Amino acid sequence: MRISVFCEPGFEPRVSASVETLKRLAGLGGEVVVASGAGVASGVSDADYAAAGARIAADNVSAGAGAEIVLAVRRPVAADLAQVAPGALVIAIADPYGNEAALDEIAGTGVSLFAMELMPRITRAQVMDVLSSQANLAGYRAVVDAAGEFGRAFPMMMTAAGTVPAARVFVMGAGVAGLQAIATARRLGAVVSATDVRPAAKEQVESLGGKFIAVEDEEFKQAETAGGYAKAMSAEYQAKQAALVASHIAKQDIVITTALIPGRAAPKLLSAEMVASMKAGSVIVDLAVERGGNVEGSVAGEVVTTANGVKVVGHLNVPGRLAATASQLYAKNLYAFVETLVDKGTKALAVKWDDELVKATLLTRGGAVVHPGFGGKVEEAGAPAAA
Ligand code: NAI
Repeated sequence: MRISVFCEPGFEPRVSASVETLKRLAGLGGEVVVASGAGVASGVSDADYAAAGARIAADNVSAGAGAEIVLAVRRPVAADLAQVAPGALVIAIADPYGNEAALDEIAGTGVSLFAMELMPRITRAQVMDVLSSQANLAGYRAVVDAAGEFGRAFPMMMTAAGTVPAARVFVMGAGVAGLQAIATARRLGAVVSATDVRPAAKEQVESLGGKFIAVEDEEFKQAETAGGYAKAMSAEYQAKQAALVASHIAKQDIVITTALIPGRAAPKLLSAEMVASMKAGSVIVDLAVERGGNVEGSVAGEVVTTANGVKVVGHLNVPGRLAATASQLYAKNLYAFVETLVDKGTKALAVKWDDELVKATLLTRGGAVVHPGFGGKVEEAGAPAAA
């Protein structure tokens, strides 16, 4: 059973196997082939992979030759799958929303493409939860990036030369990334407040030492879906939320925004007027920038300074800014899923097509898109996990 580890495109520094998971994949009966250079940006050389037992191939096409499993961070391009075994499993963060043409192309190669980000958030699959493993690091890095851009200190300091006040940090969206941002900012000594539309977030924010600020009306009480995600809020709620935020934001030094709604553009939480109300030297980090942004005026991939001197940080692929750690955790998430797709006795592929993890994540199979959330019609494909 050949397992290939693909080299990612230039904008993606992460890699889908670590030295540790590579050894464990071999333990499952895999002959692991790594495309040359795959780990370099995450601090893993070809020699490190070779020493762990992998064969190194010149590029993705040759790494994929005869492969039954292909591991990647980003959805591979169809051309790189030219020589994989018929019906090979390709496992990646497949980014299916709005990318129907690319999905059709992958389907045309005959592979079964799995989207790790559609993994159900159930206990059994926690170890495979790439959204959590990567968002947690993004939340941490957002605070580190903010601290790097901020011309002042985070903690209160009492020195002979005078007292420096603690920075005020406001985190908008207290999911996985937001909670880690709160914890990180607290560890650096900031005074932290946070908001969310899900009532469950209140206790979590407070348990981390943050002050919870939200419009806690009837709509707020119903804002969490059965899957634990936020609903899109009504225009009335958004107006009340904006009024609350407008009075709070002017007193903040740092704002980290992380608010997302599955399958939709990110909600706009900060207007240009709110940004303009902040002091010069304040920093906003928009972690939702890849999904349209929570902040009016944030630009994907750029740090923008507004007319009133506020820096708006819109780094792309924030987990990739901690590529070594992000890869280590992502590789572990992938390994845990692969382990469920292989028969440990016969050391061969044994996909249980009716398993809920498979049904939730499988996008293409047998030449077609099969996931009902993306146009698939095959009965055996399950409901989208992110509903
Ligand atoms: P996410 O990345 O989809 O969204 C980030 C945060 O933005 C969420 O907390 C959401 O409520 C918030 N948000 C959305 N619209 C907003 C608005 N208009 N204003 C303010 N905040 C807004 O969420 P994430 O981080 O994936 O977490 C979603 C939930 O899933 C959380 O309850 C989390 O604790 C839970 N979870 C459960 C896991 C499990 O295995 N059971 C694993 C990981 C997370």
